[in-house]
Amino acid sequence: MDVIELRSDNAAGAAPEILESIVAANTGTAIAYGADDVTARLHDVVREVFEHDDARVFPVTSGTAANALALSALVPPWGAVLCHETAHIINSEGGATSLLAGGAVMRGVAGDDFRMSPEHLRRTLASVGWGDPHSSQPTALSFTQPTDRGTIYTVDQIAELTAIAGEYELRAHLDGARIANALVALGCSPADMTWRAGIDVVSLGATKNGGLSAEAIVVFDDDAAEELVYRTKRSGHVTSKMRFQSAQLIAYLTDDLWRRLAGNSNERMRELTRGLAQIDGVELLNRPDVNMVFARLAEDHIDRLEAAGLLFYRMGPGVIRLVTNWSTTPDEIERALEIIAA
Ligand SMILES: Cc1ncc(COP(=O)(O)O)c(C=O)c1O
Repeated sequence: MDVIELRSDNAAGAAPEILESIVAANTGTAIAYGADDVTARLHDVVREVFEHDDARVFPVTSGTAANALALSALVPPWGAVLCHETAHIINSEGGATSLLAGGAVMRGVAGDDFRMSPEHLRRTLASVGWGDPHSSQPTALSFTQPTDRGTIYTVDQIAELTAIAGEYELRAHLDGARIANALVALGCSPADMTWRAGIDVVSLGATKNGGLSAEAIVVFDDDAAEELVYRTKRSGHVTSKMRFQSAQLIAYLTDDLWRRLAGNSNERMRELTRGLAQIDGVELLNRPDVNMVFARLAEDHIDRLEAAGLLFYRMGPGVIRLVTNWSTTPDEIERALEIIAA
């Protein structure tokens, strides 16, 4: 049966441009562990794309590693990371941040639409027992951008929250597992969404958007960068053939490939939600800013979609999640809508 992939952007393959970059890097030999020319070039590319002369970049192999390592450089073992209560780092990474940060905890901050709100962040910060050894001490604020439910923070919202956190000397991290989808949706520059809005460290995702186990930590804070030199090694992320990750990341960030790939997934999602909104028996649970939609349907309707070859995640009784990816075609969306409407 011909299936239509709408489970996850992780289910998609790698983009041809990414595969070509690996082949192109596969000539001759190169010094190991990131001391190679390709990784040096990656630094230049990141500094240009993020418009930051001192940015440092650490390629890693997964988004979980990027988040946990990035945050471990921002919090002491007795520290706490504040994030939205639905954030991936708190719910879906098996406590990796606590492990790599020597036991630091994560504290959920409430807010509508899966975003921390200024009011709740202020309330959480005011409730901390500062200087009290019985209380974990928050030293980092983490944004998931886009959120796990497909919403996004505007640049102003990020700046407002980092300013509040800055009053308590927290540094800020952005989980950008799907950062390109957010950049396309906002139409802003990487610099505006990150360091100019008060972000110190970014988990730069590529795997979900056409990469092949290539993610990176982009750091604008010198102290965090110095720690990551050692923390990436101790956690096994200074890979010997780093040039193949670096080559992918260069290709990804060059000629707007990351935006083009994310632009396709966002556009296909717009087509999908436009169609879903017209179908009786389908209730949209979010208005997606990026490439992810949640919908409520009758259970027997969901069973029929599965039987017809539509691939998606069941999130709970009567609720499904549909995700488009860099390779989703307009024809696949048309066929998906026909199946759902049938
Ligand atoms: C928002 C977000 N952050 C981080 C991750 C972790 O990425 P990985 O699965 O590569 O560890 C995911 C994965 O689904 C994610 O959705």
